[in-house]
Order: sequence, then C-alpha cells, then structure tokens
Amino acid sequence: MPATVIVGAQWGDEGKGKIVDLLAQHSDLVCRYQGGPNAGHTIVVGDETYKIRALPTGIVRGKPCVIGNGCVVDPEVLIGELDEFERRGRSTDEVYLSGNAHLIMPWHVAIDGASERRLGKLAIGTTRRGIGPCYADKAMRLGIRVQDILDPKILRQKIAVALAEKNLWLERVYESEPFRLETVAAQYESYAQRLRPYVTDTSLYVDNALRDGKSVLLEGAQATLLDLDHGTYPFVTSSNPVAANAATGVGIGPGRIDRVVGVAKAYVTRVGEGPFPTEIQGPDQERVRELGHEYGTVTGRSRRCGWLDLVALRYAVRVNGIDQLALTKLDVLSHFPELPVCTRYRLRDGAETSDFPVHQSDFHAAEPVYETLPGWDEALDGCATVSDLPDAARRYAEFVERALDVEIALIGTGAERASVLTRA
Ligand code: IMP
Repeated sequence: MPATVIVGAQWGDEGKGKIVDLLAQHSDLVCRYQGGPNAGHTIVVGDETYKIRALPTGIVRGKPCVIGNGCVVDPEVLIGELDEFERRGRSTDEVYLSGNAHLIMPWHVAIDGASERRLGKLAIGTTRRGIGPCYADKAMRLGIRVQDILDPKILRQKIAVALAEKNLWLERVYESEPFRLETVAAQYESYAQRLRPYVTDTSLYVDNALRDGKSVLLEGAQATLLDLDHGTYPFVTSSNPVAANAATGVGIGPGRIDRVVGVAKAYVTRVGEGPFPTEIQGPDQERVRELGHEYGTVTGRSRRCGWLDLVALRYAVRVNGIDQLALTKLDVLSHFPELPVCTRYRLRDGAETSDFPVHQSDFHAAEPVYETLPGWDEALDGCATVSDLPDAARRYAEFVERALDVEIALIGTGAERASVLTRA
C-alpha cells in the first residue's frame, strides 16, 4: 500500500510506535503529521530501548523520516534526539524537517504550565510541553516557523513581535518572569546552525516519493479521543490526530491515502483529566496499570486504566475511516478470570446506545453496559502465531472484530519488537 496512516483509536499510548516500527520494515518513508514532544514512543530492540518524542518512529529502522508541517517542534528536544541517535552510531542524514512546522518557544512552555496552574481543579492535565499555546499562536498567526530561524533578521523581528504580547501576559496575567529578546534570539540562532541541514520542502519530498511508487507511512501522535475536533473537548490536545489530517499535516491530497490502520489497546488508558466511562473501579485498575506498565513516557504520570470500550472504538473507526485494526497489549489481560467489554452506554434517560454521544453532558453521564467474556490463564509470550493463542484470547479478538465489523490485522502480545502476531 503506497500511503498508510497509523492512527491511535483511543486516548493515546496504544502502542502506535511499535506498530509503526513493524510496518516501517516494508516502507520507504515514515512521516509525522501532527503533535510535538507531547508524544512519546518507546521501542524495545533487543537490549536497546529507544524513547522518541520528536522524530518519527521509522528512525529506529533507519528509514527516511519526515517531520511534517502539521507538527510543532521543540528544537531542544529534536536536537537532543538527533544527537542521541548519532551518539549511538545511527545516521540522521535522512531526516527531513518541514520549514512550515511551528516552533515551540520558551513562552509556550511557560504559558502552558502557568495556565494549567491557574485553571486549578479545571486543569486539562496537559503534558506542559507548550503544545496548546504553540498551536494557538499558529492559529493567531503569531507563530514562529522552522523556516524563520534560517534568517536571523526575520527571527529577531518575529521574536520581538511575539514577546511584546507574551511578556505582558506572562507578567500581568500569570505573574511569571518575562523573556529577554537577546537571550531567546541567541538560543534559537544556535539551534538554527544544527537544524539547517534538515529543513526541506517536505510536501514536495513526500509527493515525489509517492510518484516514484514508494511506500509511505503517515504516523499519527496522540489519538482520536484527544482530537481537537472529534475528541472529548476540552480534554484534548490542540491538533488533529485523526487520519484525514495526515494529508494536511504533510501536504498531500486526501486521495493519496490508501489505507488507515487504527491502533487500540485490548483495554483502555487515559492520561490527564476528562470523562472515562470504562475506568476500572477497584483493585483491577492497579493490576492492569502494573501489568501494562501504564506510566507516561513523557511525564511519568500514572495512566488511568479501563476495560475495552467498543462504543468509543466504533466511533474511532467511523471518524478515521479505519480499514484495519492493530489490537495491542493483549498479553496484559492474561490471568483475569473474566473480562468485561463495554458494548453500549446507558444514557441519563435510561436508553442504551452503541453510538458515541455527540453531547458532552451525555458522555459525562454515560454508564458502560458490559458483556463479560471469559479470560485465559496462559501467558502469551510463547505464541508465535495467532493459532497459538489460547482459545479465549482468540475469541476476545474475534468478539471485537464482529462488534466493529473491522478486521484485526495485528495482535500485540508483548513489549518486544517481535511480539506482534500477524493475521493472514
Ligand atoms: P497536551 O497535548 O500536552 O496539550 O495535553 C492535552 C491532553 O492530551 C492531556 O490530557 C494529555 O495527557 C493528553 N496527551 C497529549 N499527548 C499524549 C500522548 O502522547 N499520549 C496520551 N495522552 C496525551
């Protein structure tokens, strides 16, 4: 398939990195289309663990990688990752950074933290990496883009214009320290020296790759329910992870996308605040968290854990146009005697629905209606093919497939790179 989108189908942390890593083997190019260092992928290769926040996951396979115009880039994080890959003897020559991607500036990080503190109990629970303020400035047309750092004069002008406003906010609204033009300009000029060779017309580069018949992976960060338009607003991120935005975020036409692969865990997790109907009450929550190592890659926060929610997943299939699913971390559910799966929500008026509620108050009040599936006692680490799975584990996957009417093409059974079973 020439262009495949990989999209998170829940609230993030579904193991997209591992699926991209797997599919990258047969791809020529891997592109990130939105988000920034709020994302965090962990790829385990033998004894080596790679933690990536800014670079596309394909870098681990040594594939050419694009950071698209839809991304926001913290230069310090990106440079740190480039340096780290080079330190490990890996080439970064084929990293292509869009000149139109927006830069996360120090005031974005300061405002993200200050605004969360100010919201107090109403805080969103952001990763505090400056994502929201950076995308807000993009929409305000006050943003500073990667291409701006290539010209010191333009860079200084833009920083001065931004600071005239940001420092007022920081001092008067948030009672924080202002930033000095000289300091920020000097810092970003030094980043420019390191990043200059990577800056590319990435839309043209991806288009040429597709014209040459190359196979391109478009890697989403965060996930459907964190989407600015389609997620559980306001407890969302500030970009559009949904598959359609892959086209905008790298600069190709929507018709170029051939396949959308959704990635969902066999259960659900959520970091940060916001409603979560299938959140587990009682000791099983902690058990799933421990077994699944459900702690944030970026912030180290404990993830909230819940049973699989097929209402939300059906919605993700719809808004992304998911053609195939990868069901990850099925191994985490081993040893539970029974597994509740949410197939419907009960609404405030007592009615039951299998469609995701369009109104926030309905979603907040929705109660999960579960069907209970039998669990299995065997660990899954010895399974080399789907037919090695315990019957109950296979039936769990088949139940999901039937409920969603979508094929599950891949099943994750462990942290290792090889622990993904392919279904023929
Ligand atoms: P932000 O993207 O830092 O603004 O955070 C907004 C919301 O998205 C918060 O609830 C975060 O916890 C959540 N979020 C952002 N990135 C990720 C991710 O990569 N995985 C899971 N949740 C995320």
